[in-house]
Amino acid sequence: MDVLQISSWSILSSNSSSVILPIMQGFTSLFLLGSAAFQTVFGIPGLSEQVKRDPHVLKRAVDSFLTTEEPIALEQLLCNIGSGGCHSSGVANGLVIASPSKSNPDYFYTWTRDAALVYKAIVDRFAHSYDATLQTQIQNYITSQAKLQTISNPSGSFSDGTGLAEPKYLVDGSPFTGGWGRPQRDGPALRAIALIGYSKWLVSNGYTSTANSVVWPIIANDLAYVAQYWNQTGFDLWEEVQGSSFFTIAAQHRSLVEGSALAKTLGKTTSTYDAIAPHILCFLQTFWSSSGYALANINVNNGRTAKDANVILASIHTFDPALGCDAATFQPCSDRALASHKVVVDSFRSIYTINSGIGSGSAIAVGRYPEDTYYNGNPWYLNTLAAAEQLYDALYVWQSTGSITVTSTSLSFFQNLVSGVSTGTYASSSATYTSIYNSVFSYADGFVDIVSKYASSNGSLAEQFDRASGAPLSARDLTWSYASLLTVAARRAGVVPAGWGSGSAATSVPGSCAATSIRGTYSVAPTPTFPPNQTPIGNGTVPTSTFTIPTATTTGGGCTAATAVAVTFQELKTTTWGQTVKIVGNVAALGNWDTSKAVALSASSYTASQPLWKGVVTLPVGQAIQYKYIVVNTDNSITWEADPNHSYTISQTCSSSVTKDVDTWQS
Ligand code: NOJ
Ligand code: NOJ
Repeated sequence: MDVLQISSWSILSSNSSSVILPIMQGFTSLFLLGSAAFQTVFGIPGLSEQVKRDPHVLKRAVDSFLTTEEPIALEQLLCNIGSGGCHSSGVANGLVIASPSKSNPDYFYTWTRDAALVYKAIVDRFAHSYDATLQTQIQNYITSQAKLQTISNPSGSFSDGTGLAEPKYLVDGSPFTGGWGRPQRDGPALRAIALIGYSKWLVSNGYTSTANSVVWPIIANDLAYVAQYWNQTGFDLWEEVQGSSFFTIAAQHRSLVEGSALAKTLGKTTSTYDAIAPHILCFLQTFWSSSGYALANINVNNGRTAKDANVILASIHTFDPALGCDAATFQPCSDRALASHKVVVDSFRSIYTINSGIGSGSAIAVGRYPEDTYYNGNPWYLNTLAAAEQLYDALYVWQSTGSITVTSTSLSFFQNLVSGVSTGTYASSSATYTSIYNSVFSYADGFVDIVSKYASSNGSLAEQFDRASGAPLSARDLTWSYASLLTVAARRAGVVPAGWGSGSAATSVPGSCAATSIRGTYSVAPTPTFPPNQTPIGNGTVPTSTFTIPTATTTGGGCTAATAVAVTFQELKTTTWGQTVKIVGNVAALGNWDTSKAVALSASSYTASQPLWKGVVTLPVGQAIQYKYIVVNTDNSITWEADPNHSYTISQTCSSSVTKDVDTWQS
């Protein structure tokens, strides 16, 4: 039996005796542990190491943790956004606080990096599945950043761009004037990436003029900053090291490549971006060390090994599913990124007490870098989740390309998981592919399982957890921790972000590197205004006559009736790993029966006992639709469910969203 098969039978049948019994033992110890037993809702500390590594048990534990934790993460993340967030009293509209903690540590500020990464996660989620609440938040963020860009601060001013790299601001948007590690040059690049993501959604849904007039002016300032200042040293993402940081350079490269593609779409000049991007990529190559991993920081002499989760974060935040396992951009499945993953993870094996006794090849708690002394140096939730996310990204690409390549560079990564494996390319039909694939999947799940074990009993995620006791530590409810949980859950469910790497500037490294830069111009962006009802249209095409949006009317109850409603479809279908359930139907938003335009559902709520696929499609009120579910198999072949078509009419409502009752696969 395929150990990764997602089916209730695979868990309950042949393995029943070996699986059920240890779980009962786990619950026995649960009762004995008293209050500490609440922890077992999220992890199963009573289970022995041996049982925890049973891939079936592990998979089920992670399924259930993510099902519980994902809504908590989203809710808590939104709590940290002004002005309405439940932990954001006094925070300006659209600003994200790093954490509600106001002392030990005081994180009640907005960091450009944290905010951009949080919004990057939100934009990806939104683009996958339209959500009016998230759209409002995104619009508020855009409005807040248009203003924040112009604020003079200790890093500099807006007129020459220097102020854009200020790391943090007060929650009302005024400058923070205390001492800090500044400038931090990843901020403008990351913000550009988040805003470009939303602009791409606008363009593909017919709202190009909004992208052009509202969002582009903000993006253009940040890209100008990158093109002008990328080759100057600055503080790294951990705000400690002044030098050149791998994470910063990788983000800067992506921002210019992706920015160029958007500029082209919007009819803007791309020459600056195209001229500079290849040199940033060239510079990125120089971080690769002959010791077989990417150095986190160079142009600095601080006595560190430069082994740092910086590199794992860079890899997941520059993931482009279409770039395959490209090593120049350190794609998650590239040999260089996998080799770095192993070196970084292993650097934490012996230094944290909570990792002791866990064998090599099993997941552990991951910190920032081994020499870290901040709060004594501890594992971080977001880094442990990033270690998992890189591997889910890799699995996605291997599955879609149908093979896994092991090179001499990545050999130690793979041998750690599958003993005896040798270099070569393994097609998906081979036993070696299956065994690597399954081992990497379980290894990835192991990192999520660590987080589930050390999360607070109520699902809160702080910044760190204690290296010795595993107790949550430092800033509580870290927004970035919650964003990491959302992205890892999406990747594990096979939901990947849009690509960024079009054109040769993405991956072709120039023969010689040049530290050239281009002086930018910085213009105050107009105060954003967003037209109402920027709802999605089917599959990125401009609305046709078959897709008419009724005008708003007033219902009998006196409320304003919605014109279009985000309908959540739910389908129970047991699938095997690699299969995707999609919905297709007789309207444009459902692909007009064209299976290549079917809407993919998410398996993020899928469990063995409830194999639920769900997704949101926005449909005009009053429309009567016909639809069916299909399964897309690993070889891209399609399995249709049996007749008849499902039918459904979107009835008049005051709500902007409805959840349709659950459908069951017709076989
Ligand atoms: C606060 C920073 O945010 C953190 O990253 C750093 O480790 C400490 N200051 C110590 O420098
Ligand atoms: C400290 C982290 O090192 C840094 O990356 C982060 O931006 C701040 N805390 C705020 O969360």
